[in-house]
Parts: sequence; C-alpha cells; structure tokens
Amino acid sequence: MSQKVFATKFENVCAVLEKYGNDPHRLVAILQEIQDAYSYLPEDIMAYVATALRVTPGAVYGVATFYSHFTLQPKGKYVIRVCDGTACHVKKASEIISVIEKELGLNEKKKTSDDLLFTLEIVACLGACGLAPVVMVNEEVHGSMNAEKTAELIKKLREEEGRNG
Ligand code: FES
Repeated sequence: MSQKVFATKFENVCAVLEKYGNDPHRLVAILQEIQDAYSYLPEDIMAYVATALRVTPGAVYGVATFYSHFTLQPKGKYVIRVCDGTACHVKKASEIISVIEKELGLNEKKKTSDDLLFTLEIVACLGACGLAPVVMVNEEVHGSMNAEKTAELIKKLREEEGRNG
C-alpha cells in the first residue's frame, strides 16, 4: 500500500476516534462509525483502534463479532438482499437465491463476488410482504420477483457498471 493510500485509509478512523475522545467505553459507537465509513471493519483498522484505545485487539474483535450488524468482510458495491421470510419463501425466494448464487459464483460461505460488485444477503421479512417475493438492491425495492427477473436485474447492473467503468 502506498503511503498516500495508507494515510487516506487511516484519516477516517482518526477522525472517528477523535470525535469519541479515544474513549474505550464508546467502542460500539466507534466501530459503527468506522463501518459506515469503510462499509466493513478492516482487520488493520481494528488493530489501530485497539492501540488508540489502549485495549487488546481481542477486545475489539470480540465486540465486532458479537454484534451481528458488524461485518469483517468487504461488501460489494451492490448489496442484494433477498427476503426469505414466510411470504417470500412460499413464493419461491429460494429460486431467486439460487440464480444469484449461480450468476455471481457465490455460495453459503462466499457472499461477495470476486469483482467486489455484489454481495448477497438473505434476510427475514423486509416488511413488504404484499410485494412478495422481494429483493432489495441497496435501498431500492424490487417486488414480485422471480429467477428470470433477478437474472435480468444483475445483467442490467453489470451493463451499467461496464458503461461507467
Ligand atoms: S416475508 Fe418477504 S417481505 Fe415479508
């Protein structure tokens, strides 16, 4: 990592630590803001936080793994959330999950595509059961989905990326 990239990477965490006065009692809030900034909790950043707060890396890691909303893996640009709550499940959400896994080379353990474009999350009720089965791409809700429409959606996002990239 070049020095410039390294410095930029740590700028965010320094600002967050300063905001909370390097107070170890605010660790959860600190990690939350760091995750908002980086979209996940990078290992080297957690080690840096531990040093700054004068706690062990294990203490930081323990908090990061205790709360399910913290993630230690980078997420893709597009987070695809497939609802597998009851209403969506009976309307074949599993077929949607299968097509996404197949299209993106994902599986139960591998949730993010190699190009870091997509992350698949399977979630419980998204509160839009009338639109079942429901898929969300970042903040956008897609209702009445099926495997075919989902494959189309991924294709469209890839094409957009191709145009922008
Ligand atoms: S069960 Fe899927 S939105 Fe409610």
